[in-house]
Amino acid sequence: MRIPTTHPVDTSQIAAPPDESADLDPVWKSVVPESRARSNDIHLPISLAYAERLCRAHPEADALVVRVAILLHDTGWGRVDEDRILSEGFTGDWRKASIRYEHERQGCLIAREVLPPLGYDDEFVERVCAIIDGHDTRADAHSLEDALVRDADRLWRFGTTGIALASSWFGLTPSRYCDRLEAEIVPELKTEAGFRIATVELARSRALLKTEVLR
Ligand SMILES: [Fe+2]
Ligand SMILES: [Fe+2]
Repeated sequence: MRIPTTHPVDTSQIAAPPDESADLDPVWKSVVPESRARSNDIHLPISLAYAERLCRAHPEADALVVRVAILLHDTGWGRVDEDRILSEGFTGDWRKASIRYEHERQGCLIAREVLPPLGYDDEFVERVCAIIDGHDTRADAHSLEDALVRDADRLWRFGTTGIALASSWFGLTPSRYCDRLEAEIVPELKTEAGFRIATVELARSRALLKTEVLR
């Protein structure tokens, strides 16, 4: 059962940064080296844009926790062995690979390192870390904010940019990767808003990439 919303859900293509984005520039500046790993500098800004849409569909959520958590959630990839990312992190039972746990642990360390000097208090930092810890390796969301981060982390893959990057990570053609999104990622979405955005985005990407023909 997905978390419902009574608020409007914007399913239009994301083509510009959200209005709120500049307030987090100090956080971005503190994780520039970590943004270079595993295309985080593409994944994280796009997922933040989806997170902001999800927050607009859920005004009852603490949007700042959601936004900071999604911005930082994968920065831990920047502090693990680069060679193991693709060899272990995207093959076999990749959700349970030790490198996955390690990037979550490192992500929490980075949050505790960069957020306090920027004025975020301990309670806020721990709420962010509770979301980062287990974001890939745990099945359930602990809170609405956790659910919104988890959905934003998945939604970026439904656009053509996400399909381009993720299909190459998994060694799949774009059309096969779209099939996988539908079969494996859509059922994991925690919110109705996330489900609606994913459905529209996937149909749009499939049409643009001609995945029914290029099989
Ligand atoms: Fe992750
Ligand atoms: Fe991610």
